[in-house]
Amino acid sequence: MKLFTADDPEARSADLLAGNIEQLKSLFPEAFTEGKIDFEVLRQLLGGTVEEREEKYGLNWHGKRKARQLALTPSTGTLRPCPEESVEWDSTQHLMIEGDNLEVLKLLQKSYSGKVKLIYIDPPYNTGKDFVYPDNFRDNIENYLELTGQVEGGRKISSNTEASGRFHTDWLNMMYPRLKLARNLLRDDGVILVSSDEMEADNLKNICDDIFGFENFVERIVWKNKYGSGALTKGFANVHEYIIVYSKEPIQDISAPLDDEQRAAYRLQDEKFEYRGGYLTQPLATTSKDPRPNLVYPIFYNGQEIWPEKQWVWAKERFEEAYKNNEIVINESEGKFSVRTKQYLRDENGIERLGKPLSIMNGPFNQEGTRDIATLFPEKIFSFPKPMALLKYFVALIFNGDKSKEGIYLDFFAGSGTTGHAVMAQNAIDGGTRRYILVQLPEPLDPENKDQKVAANFCDQHGKPRTIAEITKERLRRAAKKIKEENPRFHGDLGFRVFKLDSSNIRTWEPDPHDLEASLFNSIEHLKADRSEADILYELLLKLGLDLCVPVEKRTFAGKAVHSVGGGVLLVCLATLVTREEVEPLAQGIVAWHGELAPARDTTCVFRDSAFADDVAKTNLAAILQQHGLEIIRSL
Ligand SMILES: C[S@@+](CC[C@H](N)C(=O)[O-])C[C@H]1O[C@@H](n2cnc3c(N)ncnc32)[C@H](O)[C@@H]1O
Repeated sequence: MKLFTADDPEARSADLLAGNIEQLKSLFPEAFTEGKIDFEVLRQLLGGTVEEREEKYGLNWHGKRKARQLALTPSTGTLRPCPEESVEWDSTQHLMIEGDNLEVLKLLQKSYSGKVKLIYIDPPYNTGKDFVYPDNFRDNIENYLELTGQVEGGRKISSNTEASGRFHTDWLNMMYPRLKLARNLLRDDGVILVSSDEMEADNLKNICDDIFGFENFVERIVWKNKYGSGALTKGFANVHEYIIVYSKEPIQDISAPLDDEQRAAYRLQDEKFEYRGGYLTQPLATTSKDPRPNLVYPIFYNGQEIWPEKQWVWAKERFEEAYKNNEIVINESEGKFSVRTKQYLRDENGIERLGKPLSIMNGPFNQEGTRDIATLFPEKIFSFPKPMALLKYFVALIFNGDKSKEGIYLDFFAGSGTTGHAVMAQNAIDGGTRRYILVQLPEPLDPENKDQKVAANFCDQHGKPRTIAEITKERLRRAAKKIKEENPRFHGDLGFRVFKLDSSNIRTWEPDPHDLEASLFNSIEHLKADRSEADILYELLLKLGLDLCVPVEKRTFAGKAVHSVGGGVLLVCLATLVTREEVEPLAQGIVAWHGELAPARDTTCVFRDSAFADDVAKTNLAAILQQHGLEIIRSL
């Protein structure tokens, strides 16, 4: 029975550096001698593609090297489940994770890498008032707990003012490792959209080119987000922001459901109205394409011959078919003919046509975001939430022809939770089963700060800690309730599971030099005393790369609770004591249950190391399980 320790690669979040080296090794085995990279050989193998010049193109800043490394350092943290703060814990597939997103993104790597369909983020804009979380290279979890006031002596979080001298640098150092980790989570056909104002837009574009590759740049959308003219502005009234879009691999196509204005353009009606909706007309003649002789032919109408100025868009056969089906409109005005084709709102199968998203968006406006929140909370509780309609539009976009209405939508700067709200709302509209994962820092709210006062008071009134994450969770609860009230026939997922970032449940070896005896005694139990069975169970899920919403069942054998995760892929018994007599019935119970479950993958069985009365009990249990094909047995 192999023991899981805190240093065990399996007990840590994904080791991205080791993964990268493995990939390099498989591509260039010759460049490795005794496990180390020989750069001279690698350079030779790469031929003329190595950049040797001192001055190369690209964005550089103080801390870039450290920011790169930061993304590669595994996390020593875990995510602790909080069913009491969740909604419909047992059935939901949505996640709301409270914690610093750098650590959370690291912890999600094993379970979600290559699985996320769309990421939307709206990071702090660096206005001088935003807080930019200082990452600590040495021990980020400790740093996080202290900064967010979760351990004694919590430091106050400060904003990133221009006076700090490292204004842009701090922001870039914050964004770079997070975007790098985010890219790993995307599916091959996945897309990321990042909101930005003017301040960091160019830097953002530069680091995204670096991380996602220039060839994967999709668009820099200009979004007119305000309709007020800003009378006090000295220069131009700034009424726009950007949304920068990148894909993981070159994008083939994007289409968007029509908005109300576009749909209203299909206002003409004919005998097919009932099943194809209204129609609009488009000219059949074109002057813009390359000349093609088969597109040049006469159309006979009321005894007249109509010729195109250059050519028609359709070949003759297609035109004749459309004419027969009453899908051509010919008008005459002052002896000149116009030939137009009908374009219906819906196709033959009743499916509504799609439109092309534009690189300039006129609204929805910020004021709408404020209104969205005001319909849920009595007061103005969050400054500048994004309009829900904006997020709904992104959620409904169709990339590379994938109309599946499912997949994971991630927002790791969740704020008030607009992305989660939009995912649920869009599912209610089109019956989709999209899932969301939100990450939000429990950023402390200061009752003395005029922008945070309302939210801080709200938390006080509801007996909750004063943090932004509390507002996120409450928004999700209230939004779900409202969606249900407005769509009583919608039976989709309106719950969410809450997890909180914390240090690992598995102890690290940190001897107290003044009391070695106590240190040795404590090290017998590897699991921290204040952690629950559920904490340990979900840490296992995460570290073994299973989905945090995978079904977990429980049965009891010999009085000990056994959990089956993911249909038997993981069987876990965390009882604190297993006697020699209990070994046989416990093992037989597990074997029988495993037989019933018949999991598709090999099963890992996990026990608490300190639970066994003695080594005989431990060895017997392992022997029975192994006899029945349960070979992977670990202890904690
Ligand atoms: C501009 S707001 C996002 C607003 C959001 N789009 C909405 O519609 O409500 C950025 C959010 O990111 C959060 N944040 C900043 N640094 C973070 C970090 N390191 N980890 C997680 N969240 C963070 C802030 O607390 C803030 O709520």
